[in-house]
Amino acid sequence: MVYSRVAALLKEKMGLDAESIGVASVERAVRRRLAALGLEDVQVYWERLISAEQELQELIEAVVIPETWFFRDSEAFAALVRMVREEWLATHAEGTLRILSLPCSTGEEPFSVAMALLDGGLPSSRFHIDAIDISTRAIGWAERGVYGKNSFRGNDLGFRDRYFEAAERGYRLSDAVRRQVQFRHGNLLSAGWLHGAHGYDAIFCRNVLIYFDRVTQCRAVEVLGRLLSPSGLLFVGPSEAGLLLDHGLASAGIPLAFAFRRNVEPGPHRRSRRTGSPAAILTRTNRSHPSKSASISPSPPKPNPAANVAVAEHWMEQAHRLANQGKLVEALEYCERNADCEPPSAETHHLIGLLHDAAGRVREAAEHYRKALYLDPQHSEALAHLAVALQKQGDALGAQRLLERANRRLSEGRSTGRG
Ligand SMILES: C[S@@+](CC[C@H](N)C(=O)[O-])C[C@H]1O[C@@H](n2cnc3c(N)ncnc32)[C@H](O)[C@@H]1O
Repeated sequence: MVYSRVAALLKEKMGLDAESIGVASVERAVRRRLAALGLEDVQVYWERLISAEQELQELIEAVVIPETWFFRDSEAFAALVRMVREEWLATHAEGTLRILSLPCSTGEEPFSVAMALLDGGLPSSRFHIDAIDISTRAIGWAERGVYGKNSFRGNDLGFRDRYFEAAERGYRLSDAVRRQVQFRHGNLLSAGWLHGAHGYDAIFCRNVLIYFDRVTQCRAVEVLGRLLSPSGLLFVGPSEAGLLLDHGLASAGIPLAFAFRRNVEPGPHRRSRRTGSPAAILTRTNRSHPSKSASISPSPPKPNPAANVAVAEHWMEQAHRLANQGKLVEALEYCERNADCEPPSAETHHLIGLLHDAAGRVREAAEHYRKALYLDPQHSEALAHLAVALQKQGDALGAQRLLERANRRLSEGRSTGRG
């Protein structure tokens, strides 16, 4: 009984839907707080919780999931850099690009934005990043700027050599990057800090909406819509993309960036992508840093049935590199040629779908996302992309169903420690 009151309070105060992390997780957090306070009676704890702001904050610290790392879903950072080069700089001869990272957790996301922009050639004087999170503990870590190995995932860690130096407990981020980001404690759902905040050219609100129920998601998206400039980009997490379609936001049409716009008119960025200019199309299996330029050989390796897995990984990597270089037609040809030689995989069809999507062929894209889901019904990116494709084709109901499926998949993954 007390636990359900605690869950309701957390929903009211921070938007957390206890179901999203498992009701047992909230109960565990309460028990941890009881132990920390030397209390045994949960009713006594409840009295304290509703009378002391500080205890509410402690409980929030105990339930939040601060999981994050540098260049997580790196396509978003690549897309931001392209938007700045192709759109923002063209219309802003002077002035400051304003970015919001909310929630920023321990800082990896806003610092990745800063590194991507610096790597992209934007002078430090031309951009500023506000970074906000409800966890004061996470903000404290972010302000320290020292990171352990969990914050560096994937193989492409060139940015660590450029911007970090080894420290006693990990790697210390350079002041040049830290200066670009201002951290603040704040709640996405409470308006206090919002006064006067608006007109962000890009907002990163990734991997938090999944913890909210539908009503709270609507509140959050409304806040984000108010904060975004008319031509700004809103980035969400892979499993959150479908949520935004009901809210007057339109997909920016950048595969795997999970980016949305208020303004649905095609900007120069979107037009140029349709004609085949660079688009970063990477998957989890090949997360590259946006500034990486790979030299590749477009000729496919000969299939070897004895080493199917290695060969498949090799050609997928090549296909991704072609796509990253903007050679979308070549990447598609490469995929199709090789897809015939290999046992079909969900990842292959997902990539083919993305390549069709990037070229504006929504029907073909949807067909391949479906094939990916046939082979792997849990493929959350294929689910999210098919949802967007269905929405584009006018099937809002179908899109909504897929989105719910993607969200369910995510909660299952989380409760089993995956996802
Ligand atoms: C999984 S992390 C996401 C971090 C980063 N955006 C990313 O995608 O890597 C979720 C973060 O959301 C924060 N959070 C949860 N509810 C919030 C709220 N109502 N307002 C602000 N931050 C919130 C948590 O403290 C946690 O740091």
